[in-house]
Amino acid sequence: MQAKAPEQQRRGGHLRQRLLSMASDLPSMQKLQLQLAAAPAAASLLPALAVAALILLLATARRCSPAGSSFLDAYRSGVAIVSTPPSSTPPPRAGAGAAAAAAARVPPGCDIFKAGEWVPDEDSPYYTNLTCPLIQEHQNCMKYGRPDTGFLKWRWRPAGCELPRFDAAAFLDAVRDTSMAFVGDSLARNHMQSLMCLLTKVAYPKDISKTANPEFRTMHYESHNFTVAIFWSPFLVRGYQPDRRRHMWAIHLDEPDPAWAASGGAAIASFDRVVISAGNWFTRPAVFYESGRVVGCHYCLLPGVPDLTHRHSLRMAFRAALRVLVTAPGFGGTVILRTLSPTSHFEGGEWDKGGDCRRTRPLAAAEARARMVAGLDGDFHAAQVEEFARAKAAAAEATGGRVKLVLMDTTAAMEMRPDGHPSRYGHWAHENVTLYNDCVHWCLPGPIDAWNEMLLQMLLPGYASS
Ligand SMILES: *[C@@H]1O[C@H](CO)[C@@H](O)[C@H](O)[C@H]1NC(C)=O
Ligand SMILES: *[C@@H]1O[C@H](CO)[C@@H](O)[C@H](O)[C@H]1NC(C)=O
Ligand SMILES: *[C@@H]1O[C@H](CO)[C@@H](O)[C@H](O)[C@H]1NC(C)=O
Repeated sequence: MQAKAPEQQRRGGHLRQRLLSMASDLPSMQKLQLQLAAAPAAASLLPALAVAALILLLATARRCSPAGSSFLDAYRSGVAIVSTPPSSTPPPRAGAGAAAAAAARVPPGCDIFKAGEWVPDEDSPYYTNLTCPLIQEHQNCMKYGRPDTGFLKWRWRPAGCELPRFDAAAFLDAVRDTSMAFVGDSLARNHMQSLMCLLTKVAYPKDISKTANPEFRTMHYESHNFTVAIFWSPFLVRGYQPDRRRHMWAIHLDEPDPAWAASGGAAIASFDRVVISAGNWFTRPAVFYESGRVVGCHYCLLPGVPDLTHRHSLRMAFRAALRVLVTAPGFGGTVILRTLSPTSHFEGGEWDKGGDCRRTRPLAAAEARARMVAGLDGDFHAAQVEEFARAKAAAAEATGGRVKLVLMDTTAAMEMRPDGHPSRYGHWAHENVTLYNDCVHWCLPGPIDAWNEMLLQMLLPGYASS
């Protein structure tokens, strides 16, 4: 790849160079890596890629973020959280007081994440693109012509108990006078937007962000003095592309990302709750650093550098992120680790080879489980659960219970919902070259709304006492 660089420069301008770097020469890897990682070089793809590169360049020019090699890059930027509706028409205020106390709760001993199945639900969905103006364009599946609506008509039923429906008033009551930060990638944003849509039944937030960067937003619910913020941090630790013409990333496994963890976590320490998540970005080829020195890589093919795989980088990144949360000076809140959203829902090809997610119903639990165990998702999930347990023990010892850690183990439920992604209905048909089929994010409304049914239960008094 390095040898090619001068040749690229000779052959053409910036655009050409950019699209060549997109169509890099990474050879075939595992299926899952291919879905989210690099596109092998193919001369016949160049015209299509030229269009894609041009659009991506236009979309990202202002922010200088690179058009890279991953499916997720197209979702990186150029799309902001849609601004809120005019506050001249405030929605009804929640009856102040005992909403949370009155909220339906799962019975003691109910594991809300344990599969379980999705059962038909005629009362779904909670909102539409007309009642919620906060849906991200790429997840507004109905707007872009998704013809089937059956995928909206299910609710999550954990094994052995019922998960109560989302109750916006109870949620806002439970978070009154508190703040919540989402830290992660575009799935974290997807989650937060689902939450904001669910809350429109009671209140709209005001954008009080101190930056114009669409990847860092802070929203405030005045009626309940609830602040919710999103921090873009796809690796949780410091990660960047040293050379944007190449696909290789540099990931500093022991340096929590300053975007949220600067000064030992000072910025995040003011939040009462921090929801961290990550996963999809670790499939990229990367060189790993610790104490500033190269310790290994994932698919770098550099002589003498051990390939420790993305299982290693994901694990160590979570370890570092959780460590800073447990030790952040002044932090006395709750850390909620949301386990990965499935990376494995493309069928019939890789993401850039016509792979798609055209199912219209949930999978059976056994099939979803088998897929998870057979693929990368099972390994990533195991690493997250192990690092969570490790950090929880450390927090109990180091903080005497001041910092609480709670696992939000959504993966098994979501493995069953390959029908819940935008597929090609995350954009207009003529944009298909740029955005491919999206089998990673979730339609809004859609199955991701269940995350907030789960989150509400986790916020109710007594949930995390075990
Ligand atoms: C909402 O979805 C409908 C299709 O169900 C679409 O016609 C309309 O343009 C969408 N509106 C918005 C504001 O997204
Ligand atoms: C509003 O909430 C913040 C926490 O997000 C808290 O520090 C502050 O005291 C609250 N304000 C009032 C007026 O209760
Ligand atoms: C979408 O992409 C496919 C494959 O790249 C192409 O054959 C088709 O013409 C494209 N559709 C539109 C509407 O551009």
